[in-house]
Amino acid sequence: MAGNWKMYKTPAETHAFFETFKPLVGHASQCDIVICPPFPDLHAAVLETRGSAIGIGAQNLYWGKEGAVTGEVSGHMLQAAGCTYVIVAHSERRQYFGETEADVLRKTLAALEWNLTPIVCVGERLEERESGATESVLAQQFDGGLAPLTPEQFARLVIAYEPVWAIGTGKTATPQMAADAHRFIRQRVAAKFGDAQAAATRILYGGSVKPDNVKALMAQDEIDGALVGGASLDPKSFAAIVNYTV
Ligand code: 13P
Repeated sequence: MAGNWKMYKTPAETHAFFETFKPLVGHASQCDIVICPPFPDLHAAVLETRGSAIGIGAQNLYWGKEGAVTGEVSGHMLQAAGCTYVIVAHSERRQYFGETEADVLRKTLAALEWNLTPIVCVGERLEERESGATESVLAQQFDGGLAPLTPEQFARLVIAYEPVWAIGTGKTATPQMAADAHRFIRQRVAAKFGDAQAAATRILYGGSVKPDNVKALMAQDEIDGALVGGASLDPKSFAAIVNYTV
């Protein structure tokens, strides 16, 4: 269960979040827990979660190690700061910052190079779903961003399926719709990397996941976890998602 805080919270608010959140998930063992705060909060988040089972991730990275690239942050820096995960190609990065499949591949490779687990996002926009293009969009994103990886590289990443029309809109994909998309992605993984890898790949669903819909989503065999935006900002609601019961 991964929380993506997007552009919310200061370091002081990060401390306050973990003060409430940690005791609520102290005994959680059914899932891995990851929080992805904005860059300025990473230090506070890493300190707060030291010795706990909570992993910290960034929301983006640049593919070089260091250099004259104003405004960017490298995988090397994230690793040194104590991160173990990084989100790659969130739809907001694709939409507002023009990230392409070539960027996805470069960023995923850079994350792996620095021992960060990439959470690579894919998903269709509303007009693509309505025009029946969902599968071709997912195929294009997989083929361009992930298929060029070696099997060893691919085995180390997590995929997040986030239909763009379900992000921050309160419109969740139905569990069936999410499961269908996950199944399609998994078939793609199987065709390229084999059945065993397809079964082992974690595919998270993201898009308006809340404490009251997480159970129905997680009841789908195809859905291995969630990438949660808005509901991860509140420690009680994200703890309720982490501690969902079937
Ligand atoms: P919401 O949960 O706010 O819809 O955001 C989903 C998301 O984009 C997580 O990365």
